[in-house]
Parts: sequence; C-alpha cells; structure tokens
Amino acid sequence: MAYHLLVFHSLLSSFVKVQPQRPLASALYIFGDSINDNGNNNFIAALAKANYPPYGIDFPSGATGRFTNGLTTTDIIAQLLKLPLPPPYLSLSATNTSKILTGANYASGGGGILEESGSPLQARLSFNQQLNLFEKTVQQDLPPLFNSSRALQDHLAKAIFVVEFGTIDYLFNYLLPEFFNTSRDLSPPAFARILLQNFSQQLTMLYNLGARKIVVMGLSALGCTPNQIIRQGTGGSCSDVVNYQIIAPFNIQLPFLLNRLRFTLRGSIFVFENVFRAFTSIISNPSRYGFTITNKACCSANMNGTLLCLPNLPTCTNRNQFVFYDGIHPTQNVNILMSQACFNGSTYVCSPINIQQLARAQIPNRRK
Ligand SMILES: *[C@@H]1O[C@H](CO)[C@@H](O)[C@H](O)[C@H]1NC(C)=O
Ligand SMILES: *[C@@H]1O[C@H](CO)[C@@H](O)[C@H](O)[C@H]1NC(C)=O
Ligand SMILES: *[C@@H]1O[C@H](CO)[C@@H](O)[C@H](O)[C@H]1NC(C)=O
Ligand SMILES: *[C@@H]1O[C@H](CO)[C@@H](O)[C@H](O)[C@H]1NC(C)=O
Ligand SMILES: *[C@@H]1O[C@H](CO)[C@@H](O)[C@H](O)[C@H]1NC(C)=O
Ligand SMILES: *[C@@H]1O[C@H](CO)[C@@H](O)[C@H](O)[C@H]1NC(C)=O
Repeated sequence: MAYHLLVFHSLLSSFVKVQPQRPLASALYIFGDSINDNGNNNFIAALAKANYPPYGIDFPSGATGRFTNGLTTTDIIAQLLKLPLPPPYLSLSATNTSKILTGANYASGGGGILEESGSPLQARLSFNQQLNLFEKTVQQDLPPLFNSSRALQDHLAKAIFVVEFGTIDYLFNYLLPEFFNTSRDLSPPAFARILLQNFSQQLTMLYNLGARKIVVMGLSALGCTPNQIIRQGTGGSCSDVVNYQIIAPFNIQLPFLLNRLRFTLRGSIFVFENVFRAFTSIISNPSRYGFTITNKACCSANMNGTLLCLPNLPTCTNRNQFVFYDGIHPTQNVNILMSQACFNGSTYVCSPINIQQLARAQIPNRRK
C-alpha cells in the first residue's frame, strides 16, 4: 500500500526526452485553473500570471505562464500520449489555429466552477467561459480542418479531455471569508452540492460538444498547501479541517457524479484522478520520492495575496526536494509522479481505467 507512486520514480529523468511520434490519441484538450494554465492568462488582465522568472526556471524556454518551475501535469500527459504540447488557446491567431488539431489548452489561473470564484484575482476564464471558447473551437476553428462533420465527431471522440476545477472555488471563495460569504451561508456539504450541480451541467456540455474520453482531476490536499498551513495556523502541518471537513464532501462525491454521468451520457468514459490520494501518498513518505521539504514554498512567494512567486528573486537551490514551488502550486517533480501514475499506474490514482487504457478504448461514434 505504502509506496504506490514509487515504481515511476526511476523514470523521472528519462521521460522528459520523449519526442512526439505515433500519438496514442487524436488530440488533448485541457480545461482548468493555474494547475494547467500554460499561458492563457498572459493575454488577459489577470493578477494570476506566471510569465516572469523564477517561473519556468526548469522549462526549456523559461517563463511561459506555467505556474511551476518546469512542466505542468498536462504537459506530461501530452508527452506520454506522444502529442505536441497543446498551445494556450488565447495565443492562437488566424494564421495558426490549425494547431488545435492535436489539442489546445483553455485553462486559466483563477478560473472556477462558479463564475464568481477567483474574483479577487481579477481577469480569468471560468469553466463556463472556457466551454464557450471550446464551443467556438468546435463550431468555427475545427470544421475547416475536416472533410465532414462525421470526421470531426470522430476526431473529438478519439481525443483525451482533461478537466481540473474546484481549487479556486475553495481557496479563492469558500476559504476566503474576507471576500465571500459562502462559508457563513453554507455548510461544507451544501457548498459542495452547489459545486457538483454546476460541474455536472458543465461536464454534460463538454460531452454535448463532442467529448467522450474525459479525465477529471479531483482536488489535491489543499490543507497541505503552504497557503493554508499559514492561514489556518497549523504550525507547519497539514490542516485536517481543510482536508477532511471542508473539501472532503466535494472530493468524496465527485467520483459518484462521474459514475452517474458515465451511465447517462451514452458512449462517454469518465476517469477520476484521485489527486488527493496521490498527493498524500507523497507527503506521508516524502523521502521515498526524493523530497525533503513538504510544507514551504521553494520561491519567495506573496503569501498574503496571489500566493505566487515574487518576480526575479532566487529560488531554493534544491528544487527537486521541494513539494511546493510557490504558495499553492507543486513542483515539476510532483507533477511527473502524479501524471505517470495516472497514465499507466494501478487504479490507486486513476479509475476505473488509466489514461493509457482510455486512449485505447473504442468509443461508438454516435450522437446520443
Ligand atoms: C500563433 O501566432 C501568433 C502570431 O500570429 C503568435 O504570437 C503565437 O505565438 C502563435 N501561437 C502558436 C501556438 O504557435
Ligand atoms: C479530405 O478529402 C480530400 C479530397 O478528397 C482527401 O485528399 C483528404 O485525404 C481528406 N482528408 C481527410 C482528413 O480525410
Ligand atoms: C456578505 O454579507 C454581508 C452582510 O450580510 C453583505 O453586506 C455583503 O454584501 C455580502 N457580500 C457578498 C459578496 O455577497
Ligand atoms: C450554480 O451555482 C450558482 C451559484 O454560483 C447557483 O446559484 C446555481 O443554482 C448553481 N446551479 C446549479 C444547477 O446548482
Ligand atoms: C501576511 O500575513 C501574516 C499573517 O496574517 C502577517 O503576519 C504578515 O505581516 C503579512 N505580511 C504582509 C506582507 O502583509
Ligand atoms: C509506463 O509508462 C512509462 C513511460 O511511457 C514506461 O516506461 C513504463 O514501462 C510503463 N509502465 C507500464 C507498467 O506500462
């Protein structure tokens, strides 16, 4: 039981060199918040931007808008699927929209399930706004690249979709009583119910736009972020209140919602990524994975505001030993462990099947 992610550790150094060749899926389309944003926020008036050093210090082209030192979790999934890294959707202009043929990234730092979540971070793309952009993709950008609507449907049905939301609805809504009344007005289960109802409609919309193979990442152990360790005054350890009382109702119910959707949306396959379990597996045995510091940011972060690295200050020297890069985002090494485990590991992290099996799965190409 103890070291489920360990088998992948020896791959850390080798996998980064994987070059795109014979892709395992037609495309990779990505939705989410700053965990997966790879530059969309550079194009809007966002407070949550990561287009300056020390972000990207371990990324080949430096700071790009990725909120970590190197690769994001969906960068790694793209590499494992042997697909090019999907471009940020907002970076595309009329001359290069054809790049979305092998995928696109709609994720935006500060984006939530609820429209209002993340508002202290100013401009951001909520899940609803990301879905509107994807609708435009399906209706305007992609059709010229296909000979028939059937061919386009087939392309979408063979693509992998990764969706990751909820962190902002907690860290920049429910857990921010200075700005939001939700924690005064609603119990944790009542808030989770609202999130899941909205999320269910949004995932159904994604299906209606043609998505069939959908990986949904659950929440990480948000009580273990340097942000919440400081705010909750735990003295350095994870906040059990945040992990097991506040976010648990959402995280525990999410796989049941995905099961229901799989049953009602014909031809869909929803994979649940148990990020919470993978993450707690790392921080309960950090040394097994080469980590020594689990509760502090590697960079000098603005812990009372955006939680992001302050510009141009030095980072920790031993970035491979830190779990967190800034006040909320994990380092590249954590992303690698998680994504490897979901790509071809056991059901411990991704269930009912892993991404490799999802990519191979045959989907009947029929409208519901
Ligand atoms: C698309 O083209 C624009 C300029 O026309 C450029 O700034 C942008 O980087 C390109 N995006 C990609 C992903 O190639
Ligand atoms: C589209 O049709 C053209 C002409 O019939 C053909 O050459 C091409 O291979 C087709 N493209 C796809 C993606 O099917
Ligand atoms: C929160 O509640 C207070 C007191 O009822 C009210 O004045 C305020 O407008 C509410 N804030 C939000 C963001 O709804
Ligand atoms: C979605 O969330 C909003 C609050 O932002 C709520 O008013 C609405 O009822 C929710 N929708 C569903 C279907 O639960
Ligand atoms: C940040 O918050 C902490 C605790 O609330 C406080 O001690 C510290 O002075 C604040 N720092 C800044 C720069 O506001
Ligand atoms: C998992 O994927 C990695 C990277 O492609 C590969 O090296 C490894 O052999 C795979 N493991 C299994 C069990 O398929």
